[in-house]
Amino acid sequence: MAENVDGDALTSEVVRSFSSTSDERLRQILTSLTTHLHAFVVDVAPSIEEWEQAVDFLSRTGQACTDVRQEFILLSDVLGVSMLVETLNGQETPEATDSTVLGPFHMVESPARELGDDISPESEGPRCVVSGRIRAVDGTPIPNAAIDIWQADTKGFYDVQQPAIQSVGNGRALLRSDAEGRFHFRSVIPMHYPIPTDGPVGELLKATSRHPYRPAHIHFLVTAPGFRELTTHIFIAGSDYIDSDAVFAVKGSLVKDFVQEQDGQEAERYGVPSPFRHGHFDIVLHPES
Ligand code: BEZ
Ligand code: FE
Repeated sequence: MAENVDGDALTSEVVRSFSSTSDERLRQILTSLTTHLHAFVVDVAPSIEEWEQAVDFLSRTGQACTDVRQEFILLSDVLGVSMLVETLNGQETPEATDSTVLGPFHMVESPARELGDDISPESEGPRCVVSGRIRAVDGTPIPNAAIDIWQADTKGFYDVQQPAIQSVGNGRALLRSDAEGRFHFRSVIPMHYPIPTDGPVGELLKATSRHPYRPAHIHFLVTAPGFRELTTHIFIAGSDYIDSDAVFAVKGSLVKDFVQEQDGQEAERYGVPSPFRHGHFDIVLHPES
């Protein structure tokens, strides 16, 4: 039992209580957690009521989780922790494409589609084209890479959020890069949208006068044998909230201009009315280590 409430002595005693943990990594994590958590509590010096409020908030965050909703991940997202973990694990190198968070909407299997298909056939709005090439950091093209794509529509809704309006699979595709590593698809330019705000995370945003919006983006998950899996998005340059993403996931290298293409032959080539907006995204994968 602790002899007194001297902060440092108490912290040391709790750290010592983990000294027989045989899993070394677990002991390291618990030691660091105890040290930082105690320092945080000393810094904040919460009243009993505030501590109870924190316990209640975390309890309700857990209670809000279901098979299709993960409020704890959302909490991690809005605190910037998901982005920190993603960046630490992405082992980013200047040559490879930057990664960013997966998000909660990769919850259904994307339909296999052909290169050039419209991946948002049920969505209203002008068609855009996204094209690019998948290659290794040494420049070699990567054929037959699996490119999983998912996006919101022009009103900012994913298919799974509107079961009465959109079929599952609208705004999604599983494509394969061609023999030269190239890919292209037609779609609509998505709109910015709010993360779910009807739970404890929404309360946190409201209490801190933070908005819940994510700038317009298209998700990509790219896999190819022998290469590290890449989870990323492209962000549409000029989108609202590009400088204040609610989940801190924007990286400058991922912001892409969707330029207005005036060349009628290009429109014909892609099977879209002229003029159209064209986003280009070359994806560079790192070899598996
Ligand atoms: C998303 O982009 O799908 C997303 C990411 C983090 C939190 C909520 C949504
Ligand atoms: Fe998203």
